[in-house]
This record gives sequence, structure tokens and C-alpha cells, in this order.
Amino acid sequence: MPKQYNLDFINPVNTIAIGDNLDFLKSAQRKVLQYDIVYIDPPYNTGNKFSYNDKRSANDWLKFMRDRLVVTRDILRESGVLYISIDDSSLYDLKILCDELYGVQNFLGVFITKQAVRSNSNHINTIHEYVVAYAKSKNKLSSFKIKRIDSPGDAVMIKDLSRRVKKELKANGKASATKLLSKLNSEYMQKRGMTWLKNYSQVDDDGRIFFSKDLSVPGQPNALEIPEIGLKLKPLATRKWSTAKKIMQLYNEDKLHFKNGRPYEKHYLEDAHDNVSSVLDFYSRQGTNDLNKLGLRGLFDTPKPVELIKYLIRIATYETENALVLDYFAGSGTTAQAVMEINHEDGKCHTYHLVQLDEEISKDTLQYDFAKEHNLALSVDQLMVYRLNAVRDKLKLDDELKIIKAGE
Ligand SMILES: C[S@@+](CC[C@H](N)C(=O)[O-])C[C@H]1O[C@@H](n2cnc3c(N)ncnc32)[C@H](O)[C@@H]1O
Repeated sequence: MPKQYNLDFINPVNTIAIGDNLDFLKSAQRKVLQYDIVYIDPPYNTGNKFSYNDKRSANDWLKFMRDRLVVTRDILRESGVLYISIDDSSLYDLKILCDELYGVQNFLGVFITKQAVRSNSNHINTIHEYVVAYAKSKNKLSSFKIKRIDSPGDAVMIKDLSRRVKKELKANGKASATKLLSKLNSEYMQKRGMTWLKNYSQVDDDGRIFFSKDLSVPGQPNALEIPEIGLKLKPLATRKWSTAKKIMQLYNEDKLHFKNGRPYEKHYLEDAHDNVSSVLDFYSRQGTNDLNKLGLRGLFDTPKPVELIKYLIRIATYETENALVLDYFAGSGTTAQAVMEINHEDGKCHTYHLVQLDEEISKDTLQYDFAKEHNLALSVDQLMVYRLNAVRDKLKLDDELKIIKAGE
């Protein structure tokens, strides 16, 4: 008999449900909750000695996953996306299962991320793992896009470039900053093959880097007047001007730029975006570092990097302000931290729901010492709650966080 959760209040409140995720999923199904993103990092069936049951026969593991993924399909919004972290031990079984449940036509692809380099084999050292991605309905899912400044390959370079150009502008003025930008751009293009940088050759008064795009379109040449901003344009030789509405919108967004009395649209480097590729430059050990920074050293074996989960959420919410995100194998709570940081950094209003088994903490472990030292109940979910409170304190968040149990 499944235990029931009372989910009457749950959307859009950040929530941690403690207990078996199948019970939660069934309660969510009954309540007709609809998630935009479901990310899960289930036990990999590797035979590692986790305290929960991570060693099952392939059949048991598949049944365990099937039971959950069937219900997940029902609570995924039509435009929603499902991500599953997995490694070689179960990738192929999982792909076949998801093709059956979600349809081959809704398979989006598999991301490859980097794992710690180790010498664990005489033949091939496995230094990667995967994130499998499915849509509920591929033709209803918006295109994946990512701002380059949020993309691991480009972020460091963009931040470095922006910082150095701003510093030069302050010290020696715009001409000198523009010269430096041109020099740095060619260096980056040559060394790192970043040819897309080529157009970003201008610097504005605040030191922001941009390129400008002509505001004319094919059509019958026309004169254009926008008295509100004192703009009077004569007809061009062979093209017509973009609409007054578009020019006013750019003006209001501070994205209008004039050269020789002619208007151009500014495209800022910080807004540059890219398509999404399958090989991701995230490194699993970063997940451990993320926890270390919050004072939770050595408490979890395989936490995911916060930046990886942020990336997965961001590519699916490029144009969405308030997504509902579910992680029902929450572990240390990385997904909640990712949502909190995105809301903080990007001004979004996403909500997270996490589910975590109330596994008992065994004696003679670092988890046990930590729980005792911090006066926590001896259950793994309490370590997660501790982490999330640490993040909330760090980001100074005071929004509601509900903690619920089945039957309460
Ligand atoms: C691989 S870990 C997830 C790690 C997580 N992604 C992170 O970054 O910390 C899987 C988690 O799922 C939990 N788990 C396993 N079976 C579960 C179940 N039936 N219901 C809820 N949680 C479960 C385990 O206790 C474990 O903490």
C-alpha cells in the first residue's frame, strides 16, 4: 500500500519530501502536478558499496527504474524534459527502457561529462559518465540554448576579456580599450579557435563589449521619423528601415547605437548564446569541492557538480522564468542549490521539489560524526537539509522551504 503525501500546497513552494520516491511520484500523479524539468541521478547498479541498495541484478534495477519512469512520464509537462545521470553499467539498458516509455522520437541525446582520472583498468580507463535526455514531446520542447557566459568552454574567456577591457577603459580611455579588445580577440581566436568572437569589436562607455548590426531589411526604400527620440532617417538606396516599433524597443532596452547618424542594434558579448553540444566540460570532482566549500567535506560519495545541473536547467529554460524542477534521487541536494543559484544569478523564479530516502546514518562514518557534531537526527536527508540551509544563508534567501513526510 503506497504511502501518500499531502501535496495540496506544493506548487510553487520549494519542497523536500522525505521517504521513498515512488510514493511521492504516485502522490504527484494523483495531484496532476506537471514538472518542466525532472533531473535524476539514480543508483547506478555498479556494485559500489553504498549504504542504500546499489547492487541489484540488471532485472531488479530495470524494474526499479521502470516503476518510477512510468509515473514520471505522467507528471512531466508536455513541453518538459527528463535528464538522467548514468554510467556505462546501465546506459544501454536505460536507453532501451526510455525509448520504450518516452518514444525513440523523443530521445534528445546523451551528454558526456568528465570523471576523475583514475587508473582503474588494464585496458580502458573510464573517465566519463553520461546524462541521458528525453523530451515528453520533442516538438513541444523549446530549442536548447545557452548563454556563452554560462557555458564552461567560454565563460572564463568572456569574463577575462570583459574585465581587462573595462580596466583599460578606466585607465586610458575608449580608443585604447578598443585596441586592446582587438588584440585579445585575435589571440583568443587563434589559440582557442573562437572565431565567433570576430564581430565583437566595439566597446561602449561602460566598457561593455558589443557588435552592431544594421537596422535595415530588404524592401522598398522609405523615410522614417520617430519624434519621441528625435530620429529622422532619409530613404536608403536599395533597402527599407526596420520598423519604428523595433527601433523604439531597442532604444528602451538601451541597445540602440548610432554611427554617422544611422541606427544600429547593439549585440552585447555578455548576451551571446550558443547551441548545445554533447560533450560537456564539467568535471565530477567539482561536486565534492562544492560540498567542501559549504563545510560538508567527505560526507557524500558522488555529489554532482552544481554547475552541471545549472547548465542542464538553463539550456531548457532559456525563455522560461518560472520552471518547476523535480529531483527524486536528491542525495546531497545539488539540484536545489543549482535552482537557488540560477534564481539568484539570472533573476529567475524557478521552484524545486526534492525527494530523498530517510536512510539511517551508520556509526563510525564521517556522516555520523557530522550529524552528532551539528545536533542532527541520524538520517541522510538531514545532511541535505543542512546543506540547503547553508546555501540559503549564503544567498540570504528567506523564501519558504517545506519539509514533508508521507502520511503527515
Ligand atoms: C547517486 S545519489 C544522488 C546524488 C545527488 N545527485 C547529489 O548530487 O548529491 C542517489 C540518492 O538517491 C537516494 N535513493 C535511492 N533510492 C531511493 C528511493 N527509492 N527514494 C528516494 N531516494 C532514493 C539515495 O539515498 C541517494 O542519496
